[in-house]
Amino acid sequence: MTARKKLFVKTYGCQMNVYDSERMAEALGASGYDQVAAPEDADMILLNTCHIREKAAEKVYSELGRLKPLREANPDLKIGVAGCVAQAEGEEIMRRQPMVDLVVGPQTYHRLPRMMEAVGRGEKALDTDFPEEDKFAHLPKARLPKRGPTAFLTVQEGCDKFCSFCVVPYTRGAEVSRPVDRLLREARELVERGVREITLLGQNVNAYHGSGLDGAEWGLAQLIWEMAEIDGLDRIRFTTSHPNDMDDALIEAHGTCDKLMPYLHLPVQAGSDRILKAMNRKHTAESYVRLIERIRAARPDLVLSGDFIVGFPGETEEDFQATLDLVAEVGYGTAYSFKYSARPGTPASERAMVDPAEADDRLQRLQALLTEQQRATQDAMVGRTVKVLFEKPGRMDGQITGKSDYLHAVHVDGPADLIGEIAPVEIVESRPNSLAGRLVG
Ligand code: 5AD
Ligand code: SF4
Repeated sequence: MTARKKLFVKTYGCQMNVYDSERMAEALGASGYDQVAAPEDADMILLNTCHIREKAAEKVYSELGRLKPLREANPDLKIGVAGCVAQAEGEEIMRRQPMVDLVVGPQTYHRLPRMMEAVGRGEKALDTDFPEEDKFAHLPKARLPKRGPTAFLTVQEGCDKFCSFCVVPYTRGAEVSRPVDRLLREARELVERGVREITLLGQNVNAYHGSGLDGAEWGLAQLIWEMAEIDGLDRIRFTTSHPNDMDDALIEAHGTCDKLMPYLHLPVQAGSDRILKAMNRKHTAESYVRLIERIRAARPDLVLSGDFIVGFPGETEEDFQATLDLVAEVGYGTAYSFKYSARPGTPASERAMVDPAEADDRLQRLQALLTEQQRATQDAMVGRTVKVLFEKPGRMDGQITGKSDYLHAVHVDGPADLIGEIAPVEIVESRPNSLAGRLVG
């Protein structure tokens, strides 16, 4: 029997990468690797990269530069680059950093074990195809250990929307939905391993249209209703969505499906119709606001989250004001805001940039407003009793921490055996990024 080897995975970017990293680690588990927490201890280092904003490729090259001494100290150390930078840069990675043994794009993780065999023979392995088959269905699995109470499950990948600023359609490819039966099987497996909450992931998850149990095409709402039938699965979330794919069935599910949590991430990106058009968003500010009204009519206590980009090419002060107006009108419980960053290969990257100092200033003003709204949403929780799924011990002795239905982090004094359980908590204090509460009953 050969000794087991050690794998260190570093994940950048979105939750989909977190999910992919878990799947890759499981697949490599079957090839004899156990995960470790420090790169110094590893026989194999895998960087799972993100290309969405900023100098993503440069960051990967400098990270590789930092790994160089480890490789020099241990020539047997294998180094791999996965994810969206791998997809975008391909062979260039090995040209610029010859110590890299393996480059694998996001759609070919199921070929990892075979690639690792080649790497084991001292060869280089590169695969950035967009194959037809479902990579997750072909991933080998090692032993499946118990795991924490929350999990991600990728149900859809890729994007056909082509927002003019975004690399996702190029790095992750066209929209593909995984079939319902496989997703149910995977969800049941997760529940058997201790999971109580599943977040369904997709770059454009509400455009989900997988093959259903009856052979017909199912939308996301149908998938959610079927998942909700799983005993022991108590909470369902999904992220991230496009306003144009928020169909009636999904809106209704927010009002009627108890297991679907009252939190929705629905990016709008900007509040000016001129900019929305230039972004190729295919909706207006007005249609977005009306949509939010309908969703809130279905689920009045829903906490809304969004993404914003400031300084998109051509954005004037007036356009930016329209974004502030929209935020003021809609009201977000939490939000992510970014300064526009030109991504090579996207249509917007060919247009003239807004003055960077101006863009910085807008980002600060937008963030000030969003932070205020986040505070207000949190403060309004004080005095209410919410359900918390406890995930782990808190930072203080005797504390445990978890998430409320509304996805707020909540700390309480309580016994560690509540970890993995859902319990009612009365919120007593709102802190900068979390809530403090006490167990009820
Ligand atoms: N520049 C800035 N932000 C971007 N995002 C996507 N592409 C860019 C870009 N080129 C943001 C969008 C998206 C989130 C995941 O990242 O707001 O919703
Ligand atoms: Fe990118 Fe737009 Fe697709 Fe979201 S909907 S992944 S922003 S192209």
